[in-house]
Amino acid sequence: MAKIAIMGFGTVGAGVAEVARMNRDVIASRLGEEVYVKYILDVRDFADSPYADRMIKDFSIIENDPEVEVVVESIGGAKVALDFTRRALLAGKHVVTSNKELVATHGRELLEIAREKNVNYLFEASVGGGIPVLRPLFQCLAGNEIEEIYGILNGTTNYILTRMVKGGISFADALKEAQAKGYAEKDPTADVEGIDAGRKICILSDLAWGKEVSPAEISMEGISSIHLKDVDIAAAAGYRIKLLGRALRLEGGRQAAYVAPHLVSESCPIATVDDVFNGIMIRGNAVGDVMFYGRGAGDLPTASAVMGDVIDAIQHRAKRRDLGWSQGADLVAAADLPMRWYLRGDFSLDDARTVCGQAEELAQGAVITGTMTEVEAKAAAEKLGAVSMLRVL
Ligand code: NDP
Ligand code: HSE
Repeated sequence: MAKIAIMGFGTVGAGVAEVARMNRDVIASRLGEEVYVKYILDVRDFADSPYADRMIKDFSIIENDPEVEVVVESIGGAKVALDFTRRALLAGKHVVTSNKELVATHGRELLEIAREKNVNYLFEASVGGGIPVLRPLFQCLAGNEIEEIYGILNGTTNYILTRMVKGGISFADALKEAQAKGYAEKDPTADVEGIDAGRKICILSDLAWGKEVSPAEISMEGISSIHLKDVDIAAAAGYRIKLLGRALRLEGGRQAAYVAPHLVSESCPIATVDDVFNGIMIRGNAVGDVMFYGRGAGDLPTASAVMGDVIDAIQHRAKRRDLGWSQGADLVAAADLPMRWYLRGDFSLDDARTVCGQAEELAQGAVITGTMTEVEAKAAAEKLGAVSMLRVL
């Protein structure tokens, strides 16, 4: 029997306990032994929970119990979670997490500790919720040079956009729904302002190219500046507006990563990813485009990914999975990447062509420019008096 502990009994932690319960037999038959949740650590009291007898508040009980092989960290944040993760790894325990903030900001250090202690630090649930994407990236696609990764990486904002556009409800009401469903971060600013998607694109980038890209180094823009009028114009012209995280490998091994809303043509499968679903496209030089799709947040979908890692950690007890990345990514700023832009304002197509050189009209006063950098696009937007400016994928 493999004994595990869960730290943080919120949406994800409770989901992990539930998956361990409802799939106990199938997990045991696949693994060859049962997975038993010995402790659940939380600051709150759960007197009525069926797990009440396993609830603890003192981390050192887990740290000092040699029976606990795997610790699931689903507390969130990069303070207590960092301290407990370090200590669990140093105590020789495998750690599995859904905490993208921690992986994106301290993953390199924690993976080094895991290597020194010959244990696993696994984090499939940190990107794409229930979607298996990290393991395919570092394992199944290992024979490729990864060229580009882009996609919808945040369930809350995709849910909000879908509910606003298709359900006709307000931003505030859509956010409340996402919170009630357990999709949003404790501070939903991280979702709304693109920070959560930024952490995820950093993790994808770290794994794809082996060089650390930290969230502090990349530009992140959220959905708060999207106007519904632009959503309508884009839709009438065959585009959807989606919050995308994007990471690219450029010439000479340079890299770029950023998060921003984009117009995405309806012919691209990412455009039709709605609700809490995430869609992630990875382009490898041998495989071409591969898309990963599924629920990007929520208790059981995320717990599915966590439990997959728990099983993997137990299966790799003796020989750990060799994961890690080093410092030194050579980053190009997102503002210097040439791309097409959507501009809207009180200007004619002729004006747009005079200022931008190339422009395709989507509606009166709304165009898609030719390829230019953000600096050039901002200068053009200023000359035209544009009120909206968005990237086009
Ligand atoms: P929740 O806030 O629902 O759960 C966290 C739990 O940990 C809460 O019960 C919280 O109590 C408790 N907690 C806080 N501080 C401590 C502490 N010092 N010791 C023990 N327990 C503590 O978060 P989620 O389950 O939603 O998210 C957990 C992590 O997983 C986050 O990193 C999140 O980004 C990530 N994630 C979340 C997904 C989702 O769909 N929700 C999906 C994928 C990843 P209290 O509420 O009192 O603070
Ligand atoms: N708040 C995150 C989201 C949770 O909405 O995508 C999953 O990482």
